[in-house]
Amino acid sequence: MAKSWSDKEITSILSSREPRMLDELFDAADRCRRDSVGPNVFLRGLIEFSNECQRNCYYCGIRKGNLSIRRYRLTNYEIIALAMSAFEGGYSSLTLQSGESDETREINEVVHFVQVIKAQSQARDNTGQGLGITLSIGELTFDQYQALWEAGAHRYLLRIETSDRQLFSRIHPPGQYYDKRLHCLDALKTIGYQVGTGIMVGLPGQSIENLVRDLQFFVERDIDMLGIGPYIPHPNTPLYKQPAFDFDPFIMTLKIIALARLMMPDINIVCSTALQIINPRGLELGLKAGANIVMPVLTPEDNRGNYSLYINKNYTQPQELVDRIRMFGYEVDPWTWGDSRHYAARQAQE
Ligand code: 5AD
Repeated sequence: MAKSWSDKEITSILSSREPRMLDELFDAADRCRRDSVGPNVFLRGLIEFSNECQRNCYYCGIRKGNLSIRRYRLTNYEIIALAMSAFEGGYSSLTLQSGESDETREINEVVHFVQVIKAQSQARDNTGQGLGITLSIGELTFDQYQALWEAGAHRYLLRIETSDRQLFSRIHPPGQYYDKRLHCLDALKTIGYQVGTGIMVGLPGQSIENLVRDLQFFVERDIDMLGIGPYIPHPNTPLYKQPAFDFDPFIMTLKIIALARLMMPDINIVCSTALQIINPRGLELGLKAGANIVMPVLTPEDNRGNYSLYINKNYTQPQELVDRIRMFGYEVDPWTWGDSRHYAARQAQE
């Protein structure tokens, strides 16, 4: 059982600028990760299958109102072929992500390709396990989540973005509700998914106090997986011109990852792409801070540039990521799904 952390303790770490404190924090988080989830880093091949989006989030480059990107949606055939070549290439887990659409026709398509990917990968796997599938396709209805679960997806990522209601409503247009997001997270948990959430760090108007609450929010919601990334302003979004907050978002993100690891030792924490983009050592330092999941981008090159949540200049080849993880002293485990241990512990308790 992890110790519980007071707001005061968290605040003092988040506001400290002591280099020695940082080293100690990252060492403690790294040790904690090794003790509770092991030395392995697990991969999820990321397929961004569509950038079509019905939402207008003020920070996001694929928002509906951004008319300057080319919209794409891979065909089911392309998605299945990509998934299967990832499987043949040694991935045992995938994350399938897209812009948001809750239209029945669209969701039925996702149900279909998830079913096919599961069936084909299971048929080619002598353990019968096939590919582990994480979805990240936004706010849907209970029945849609249920249908996707029955199709074979077993993990779902839906970031809260900020646990502060006021800040949430400043970064989302009217009609996108904080309570709806909570409701979706509840639905996912009820159905049985491993549930991941997360935030952006460095949003205009975000305070240390907000970040402290965010960490407590993750503990209170008993989440299984976490994705934390720095906010990266995108020129074609309404939030672009707003002044960012007073802290270095890179260091602040690392601190939050480290605290999250210490507060919730057995969850899975992703070393986000955004973290890797704002700093050339983002991958290594994210792992050192306690992250244990990496998602190499497998989206075809023609589409990659248009999946521009933020300005994304430096693409790293999957093999280079794997080499760097190994060079930095961690094991990459391609054979197991690397499910959240916290989820298993939660199931055993129920
Ligand atoms: N900077 C950083 N992260 C972003 N996301 C969307 N836009 C940005 C941005 N400008 C993140 C959100 C979303 C995830 C898929 O990408 O947190 O949940």
